[in-house]
Amino acid sequence: MSLQGRAAIITGAGSGMGRSIALRLAQDGAAVLCADLNLAGAEETIKEVEKLGGKALAYRVDVSKKPEVEGMVNAAVKNFGSLDILVNAAGIWEGTPAEEIPEEEWDRILGVNLKGLFFCCQAASPVMKERRAGRIINIASIAGRTGGSYCGAHYTASKGGVIALTKRLAKEWAQYRITVNTVNPGPTDTAMTADWPAEIKERIKANIPLGRFVQAEDIAEAVAFLASDAARFITGEAIEVNGGILMD
Ligand SMILES: NC(=O)c1ccc[n+]([C@@H]2O[C@H](COP(=O)([O-])OP(=O)(O)OC[C@H]3O[C@@H](n4cnc5c(N)ncnc54)[C@H](O)[C@@H]3O)[C@@H](O)[C@H]2O)c1
Repeated sequence: MSLQGRAAIITGAGSGMGRSIALRLAQDGAAVLCADLNLAGAEETIKEVEKLGGKALAYRVDVSKKPEVEGMVNAAVKNFGSLDILVNAAGIWEGTPAEEIPEEEWDRILGVNLKGLFFCCQAASPVMKERRAGRIINIASIAGRTGGSYCGAHYTASKGGVIALTKRLAKEWAQYRITVNTVNPGPTDTAMTADWPAEIKERIKANIPLGRFVQAEDIAEAVAFLASDAARFITGEAIEVNGGILMD
């Protein structure tokens, strides 16, 4: 129970990786605010946390709306008394070829994956600054490192942006003892990839040295490490969880 007494917000906690992360951090003892645009999904997650004996709250948020994000941080502080950990897992994906991406779609993807994630970091920072402690863990993607195997240019750009943003925030906020890191998943079995064509998935899988897609639980393990005391001196870094697709 290494996170006993800590409070965490997990965005995107209504599904996939966010749900697994919420469960994992709750198992480690953290109280978890499970935030998602899909409130029903977040409520499902808190039921699972409560079954494990954990403390959880479901919260509906659109991370691309700054006032809603500020409300989310206030709700965590009001209900849990603090905010120690922020995990940004909310995200959306499109695979549109670059030359066909409409401006609205570009803005929507960047608005959630990059601007929305920034709003969450920004809103959490005053609480963490005051406490002189904080862990921010951003779920980026292997796509932001390699260009990706099957995704749109806007998605790839948003994830590259998250990796760069993480390093900048790590530099600015180190003076307040806030660490900021990314976990970069490879292709992962979640709702996001459920509709990918079978032949694309097979082609990708053939190039994964460890021979399978990432599971949401694999990501949760890396996040739990970065949230723990063991990772206290790691900041501006990335943990690549991809079964060996990218080794550098
Ligand atoms: N699945 C993959 O292969 C893969 C690979 C690399 C990175 N990622 C990233 O991992 C993160 C989690 O994705 P996942 O695979 O678990 O997908 P998912 O679709 O299962 O979960 C994403 C969650 O984000 C929520 N969400 C979407 N827009 C939101 C908004 N505006 N405000 C709040 N919540 C919102 C959704 O409702 C959903 O519950 C995303 O950032 C994704 O880009 C996924």
